Amino acid sequence: MQFEVKGKDTQSKARAGKITTDHGVIETPIFMPVGTIGTVKGVHQTELKNEINPDIILGNTYHLYLRPGTQILEKAGGLHKFMNWDRNILTDSGGYQVYSLSANRKIKEEGVKFKSHIDGSMHFFSPEFSMDIQRSIGADIIMAFDECTPYPCDYHYAKRSMHMTHRWLDRCINHLERNPPIYEHNQAFFPIVQGSTYKDLRRQSAEFIASREAVGNAIGGLSVGEPAEELYGMTEVVCEILPEDKPRYLMGVGTPINILENIALGVDMFDCVMPTRNARNGMLFTAYGSINIKNKKWEDDFSPIDEMGITWVDTYYSKAYVRHLFTVNEMLGKQIATIHNLGFYLWLTREARKHILAGDFREWKDKMVKQMNNRL
Ligand code: GUN
Repeated sequence: MQFEVKGKDTQSKARAGKITTDHGVIETPIFMPVGTIGTVKGVHQTELKNEINPDIILGNTYHLYLRPGTQILEKAGGLHKFMNWDRNILTDSGGYQVYSLSANRKIKEEGVKFKSHIDGSMHFFSPEFSMDIQRSIGADIIMAFDECTPYPCDYHYAKRSMHMTHRWLDRCINHLERNPPIYEHNQAFFPIVQGSTYKDLRRQSAEFIASREAVGNAIGGLSVGEPAEELYGMTEVVCEILPEDKPRYLMGVGTPINILENIALGVDMFDCVMPTRNARNGMLFTAYGSINIKNKKWEDDFSPIDEMGITWVDTYYSKAYVRHLFTVNEMLGKQIATIHNLGFYLWLTREARKHILAGDFREWKDKMVKQMNNRL
């Protein structure tokens, strides 16, 4: 994997970059749609490619391990072939889903024992096993196995957990060195900074992560309920330490405003379930604020769902029609809303890139943040 910085904003830490992998180019800043279990929920691969057009999507080790399982994935020749997606994929390690989804988890130095949220069966993930599963899935970017601490988190717990995440990181690195990729393409490995909301721990973690000289680095343990100011405070501290010539990925973030503010602090990559999950609940993001399409006020509003027309659904369908689909619980409503929201998120990060390269990012960002704060 290669990374080049193509342009920097002079009034913030924002940068525009280019990542190149065996599955093509990823222009940054980028939002990566979440395709948890081998599908970006409700979206055909053709629409994903031709309309939303992301250079990379996300998959989850935890979900793909439970179903369909690594045997099927290996038989298919990896996740790219299984789902027929020939662009980039990144997989999260399971180090988040194990904590957020499974019951009865027990975290020990060796790894995490957990109960499946599907059928209650018991499983065990170690750093080594997470790397093995990620080799079987075959994503272009794979993540370290870490512990994502909750918010709020006791200082001593956060410190102990961070040190364990660091020891787990070295186990991941050693294991990957001894177990090369099983498909023809390379896999880039990103370690993850932890440290909860404590600046001294964040600094310590960022320094440890940077010392491992990985091709890209991630920031985890955020967007877990802390106020936005704390999130920005942590990213600022960490981005000052993580190397400038490597991509920085902020995991699980966030709202359109969070994304722009973190781009301004030097983050290049984002993922979040928000555009897809909120779409299924009738929330549409636009450049002028968010819309609850289930609201009665849209009942006879025959204007397009978004005049900007970023994706074809925006001007093809009216607000009144999409509201009707939600009212009668038709799946087409959720599909339209999902295409719209992902189209908007991808537009937002592409625009950010354009403005960074044009030299007016800060001004544009401040205007957008104000506009997007509205509830329409
Ligand atoms: N997704 C969101 N936050 C995190 C995190 O801290 N760790 C991992 N592995 N995934 C995440």
